[in-house]
This record gives sequence, C-alpha cells and structure tokens, in this order.
Amino acid sequence: MKINSVQLIYFSPTGGTKRMAAKLAGFIAGRLSVPIENTRLNLIEDREKDYYFGPDELVILTVPTYADRVPNKIEPDLRRILHFDKSPAVALVSYGNRSYGTAPFELADILKSDGARVIAGGAFVCRHVFSEFLSKSRPDRYDRAEMDALAEQVVSIVEKAETSDDLPEPEMGNIGEYYKPLKEDGTPARFLKAKPKTHLDHCYFCRLCVRSCPMGAIDDDCVTVSGVCIKCHACVRSCPEKAKYFDDPDFLSHVRMLESICVERAENKVWI
Ligand SMILES: Cc1cc2nc3c(=O)[nH]c(=O)nc-3n(C[C@H](O)[C@H](O)[C@H](O)COP(=O)(O)O)c2cc1C
Repeated sequence: MKINSVQLIYFSPTGGTKRMAAKLAGFIAGRLSVPIENTRLNLIEDREKDYYFGPDELVILTVPTYADRVPNKIEPDLRRILHFDKSPAVALVSYGNRSYGTAPFELADILKSDGARVIAGGAFVCRHVFSEFLSKSRPDRYDRAEMDALAEQVVSIVEKAETSDDLPEPEMGNIGEYYKPLKEDGTPARFLKAKPKTHLDHCYFCRLCVRSCPMGAIDDDCVTVSGVCIKCHACVRSCPEKAKYFDDPDFLSHVRMLESICVERAENKVWI
C-alpha cells in the first residue's frame, strides 16, 4: 500500500518519549523515502484541536507510561481529538525501567477506537524522569538496534498489504489496573496531591515552567500551582536554574524505592 508520510503524534512532557519515537519514525521514513510530520499534544492548546489522518499516513502514537497505563489525564483527550481513516499505526510507549504495565495495550485500544489499524506495538525504556540516574542512558545503541528491527518489520508489513484492509493486527493484551506506588517500607506512597515547589532565590520568573506544563497548572507568577499537577516533571526539567523541586515525603520515598529496586536493565518489548 502507498504511504505518503510518517505521522509522529506525541505526548512527551520532558522529551524522552518524543526522542525515542523520533528514532523509529526516522528509520521508517528513511526506508519508505517519505517525510515525517510531527503532532505535539503536550500542551492544553495542542489538545483543544481535532486531528485527522488518512489511510496513506503511517501513524506512530507515543506517550510515556504513567502508573502502568496511558497518562490518565491525557487518555480522554487522545480518544476525543484523534481521528483516523484506517491509518496503519504503531502504539509506542516509553517507560522508566520499572514496568510498562498495560500502557501499550491501552494505547492500541485508543488507536483502534479512533479508527486506526494497529500493526505493531512497542514499549521502550527511557530515562525515568523521577530520578537522576534510573535508566539515565536509555535509549542506547542496543535500544536503537531493536528500534531499527521494529522499523524493518513495520515497513515490510505495509509493503506487503494492498490496502489498509489487508493489514494484520498483533495480539497484545487487556488493559489492567493502575499501579499503586509504594514507599521504601512497602506501604502505599500517597502523593497524588503533591505539587512542585520553587527555590525563590534561583527563580528569575522566566515562565518556562508555566509554558511547559501540560496541565496549565502553574500560574503566571511561576510559583503558585493552582491547577492539577500530574507529576510529569516538565517544570523541573525545563527550568534552567533548577528552581523547581518536589519535597513531598511520600513522593521522595517512592523515588528512593524505585532507585533501589529498578537497577537491573529492563528490556524493550515489541508486538508485531
Ligand atoms: C507520573 C509518572 C508516572 C510514571 N510511571 C511509570 C511506570 O508506571 N513505569 C515506569 O517504568 N516508568 C514510569 N514513569 C517514567 C516515565 O514513563 C518515563 O520517564 C518517560 O520516558 C517520561 O517521558 P517524557 O520524557 O516523554 O516525559 C512515570 C513517570 C511519571 C512522571
């Protein structure tokens, strides 16, 4: 079947997911000799529009895994604003070396219910945004080789199909529960209401944090968090002065727990 572009659609608050998925998009677009077009869904304004994709557009939809699932505040937006006309699609999640849970299956379900034909799924390890060292150097050259192999398979699937109706669909899995984070002592870590704080002596009110927040939660003063915080760390990572931080004790204990148990290299997983 004829593919005229690779469409990379991403929600990636701190950029890791996008960088990882851009590699897959690049490998596929290179082999098909077609351009890549990007659709960013990071900000509220991005998610207020509708997006339409046709059967000649190969879609890569990518999000990070949050609590073993598609980020729960973004999932309804993905279902509402994305519209596919039998577009061949890859459901691709990043995860931070702990678990991808059932996020790839949920993303595939979103794609299918929006009209896409899911031909492949993937879960690839990226740096865990909560930590300074957890899976810090992922994706690495081994990950890129696996990504390249996935691209090869995706290209061969679309080249074999005459039309979208011939596209095969991989067996993936059912959507499970959200992960309940734990503290170091194994008891529940309750940090749903935690919000970033600001070192006032570092902050020079450039408003990069305000502009990077996917929930529009930070007021123009750069300090007051009047909206919902999803702990994505966009504000922490975007601040050139490292003025943003979390000091919630349950959150910090959860991060220490992750850093003590998620040290082994986690593997990528592909469904084809
Ligand atoms: C709120 C939140 C929940 C997360 N939950 C998980 C998880 O369940 N499993 C995991 O391995 N990584 C988890 N992570 C790590 C992210 O999936 C990982 O760092 C991702 O690559 C960040 O994407 P981004 O750089 O595009 O923002 C979580 C991160 C955040 C912010």
